Amino acid sequence: MSISKAVNSKVTSQNTIEERLQIQRLVEATKVVTSTAGTDVVRGLTQASKTLPAYYFYDDRGSELFEEICELPEYYLTRTETAILQKYASEIAKITGSCELVELGSGSSTKTRILLDAYQHLGYPLHYLPIDVSAGMLENSARQLLVDYPKLQVYALAGTYEMALAQLPATQLPSRMIGFIGSSLGNLNAQECDIFFSQITNALQPGEYFLLGIDLHKSKEILEPAYNDSQGVTAAFNINILEHLNRRFEGNFDTTQFEHWSFYNETERRIEMHLRSLRSQTVQLKALNLTVNFAAGESILTEISRKFDLKQIQQQLTARGLVPVHTWTDSNQWFGLLLCQLQG
Ligand code: TRP
Repeated sequence: MSISKAVNSKVTSQNTIEERLQIQRLVEATKVVTSTAGTDVVRGLTQASKTLPAYYFYDDRGSELFEEICELPEYYLTRTETAILQKYASEIAKITGSCELVELGSGSSTKTRILLDAYQHLGYPLHYLPIDVSAGMLENSARQLLVDYPKLQVYALAGTYEMALAQLPATQLPSRMIGFIGSSLGNLNAQECDIFFSQITNALQPGEYFLLGIDLHKSKEILEPAYNDSQGVTAAFNINILEHLNRRFEGNFDTTQFEHWSFYNETERRIEMHLRSLRSQTVQLKALNLTVNFAAGESILTEISRKFDLKQIQQQLTARGLVPVHTWTDSNQWFGLLLCQLQG
């Protein structure tokens, strides 16, 4: 630290942004830092039905594209959830009382502001712990929040949910609420969902809260355009995962030779998002020592987005000790917001 900065920090006491911001990096965005990095990519691409772990979508470019998706006319999820939050945030804050907000997959933290406003309005201290795999997005959003909320303290964790949940510092306020909104739960399959709920219950103390936002089952005519918009933003987002892999693992995916393909699987009640190979081709990821062959028309499953039934998810949460204390929806019942409390 330079001398002038040290003097300066004394003068302004504890209110500077630097003093209210801590960032812990659990992953390095552009480099392979551990020998296990990429083993999930190898596993996914060497299976009979190829898949990729979805968190590779969220490099800095992918996170920007995702923000664009959230604003698309076809993507009703963000608008609907935001409206529910606006309507009920003060109710949420009153139920939980003073608590730290942990957010999984915080992205731009736009919706979080609604909650911060509610807690601020009740005069509670603001402690926010955003978790995101995109370190760039995480830092930018945190800095912007610190400017806009002069009393806010941020402890940001750059990493996967799993890493971050295992390393949460002890709570400094009377309670804690882990937020998992945007229907990201739908991006986990049944088995991953099970593991995830254990990670949540391990990270909470009895009496603490879990706020879950989920997209509900509805007609195909509304669901499908949300994942295949007319401007091609979702397609660009899907393709970007290959660019990320190229950069990160010295790959040579030719992104012009894959196409975005998504549909609603009604039996499974999930959107499936694929990247379909336009021809027979071979791709290499040098850093992973991996060669992958694609047949023409063969696809990689890059994402699922499950659509939920409120009753079922309430039962499932209750069975895991995460008791829903309140559930809110919009007038169409398109989206659900559940506030759950860990049983003692
Ligand atoms: N949680 C979001 C959802 O399931 C993620 C998402 C939206 C997404 N659009 C996407 C993921 C497009 C991959 C591609 O709705």
